[in-house]
Amino acid sequence: MMKFKFALMLLLPMAWIAGCASFPDADSTAKHAEQLVADAYVSTALTLKQRTLQDASQHVCSAVGGPKLSQAQSAIIVKGARDSIQYPTSGKLSGNWKIGAELVSDGRGQRIVNGKVEELKANGALCTNCHAMDPKEVNAGNVGPSLAGYGTQRGNSEAVVRYTYERIFNAWAFMPCSNMPRLGASGFLTPEQIADVVAYLIDPESPVNKPS
Ligand code: HEC
Repeated sequence: MMKFKFALMLLLPMAWIAGCASFPDADSTAKHAEQLVADAYVSTALTLKQRTLQDASQHVCSAVGGPKLSQAQSAIIVKGARDSIQYPTSGKLSGNWKIGAELVSDGRGQRIVNGKVEELKANGALCTNCHAMDPKEVNAGNVGPSLAGYGTQRGNSEAVVRYTYERIFNAWAFMPCSNMPRLGASGFLTPEQIADVVAYLIDPESPVNKPS
């Protein structure tokens, strides 16, 4: 009886280890999960399906349980993001703050409406889902930092305008793998729309820069 118990004590952990060894590794689990997501979009429009395909940078950022981003990986992502940045043909990186004001809380564009992807001439930016902007607006998200008083705090120098424009066009040029969507690089917003949002953040007349 003692012998049997002893054998069982040895065998159980061995069986457990063998079970673990046959469990799929992180890479194949991630691939499997990505495939499941892609398959779930089988009948929807191509534009939506394309969103499930990761580009090289997104792939690195989505590594499951992987090690921290290395310096070399960060450098590649930042360079790719920098190369993606395009500017308005007018060369003006700050546009009309009043148009920007409409855009920042407009969530329309590329939603699924009646089973079809909504197609509009221009998408909304919906920055307020993640950022406080107008200090009087209580309905704002906090996934990103508050941008209330942005222009008052930073001024409107050419460097600030350029930084803000590039930051919105492709946030990963500054903060690789951040949760800020790459709104210009993905083609979701046009360079002109981004310039209008920049104006909304920095123009002294914008509600962003008025006291609460
Ligand atoms: C899904 C959430 C999300 C959305 C939508 C979003 N952001 Fe962000 N944003 C973030 C996060 C998170 C950060 C902080 C990480 C980083 O710096 O990338 C950030 C950072 C920023 C910064 C840098 C702040 C600083 O202190 O320099 C600016 C500027 C900014 N966002 C502007 C915008 C604007 C304008 C929009 C809309 C066009 C927008 N964001 C949409 C999440 C978001």
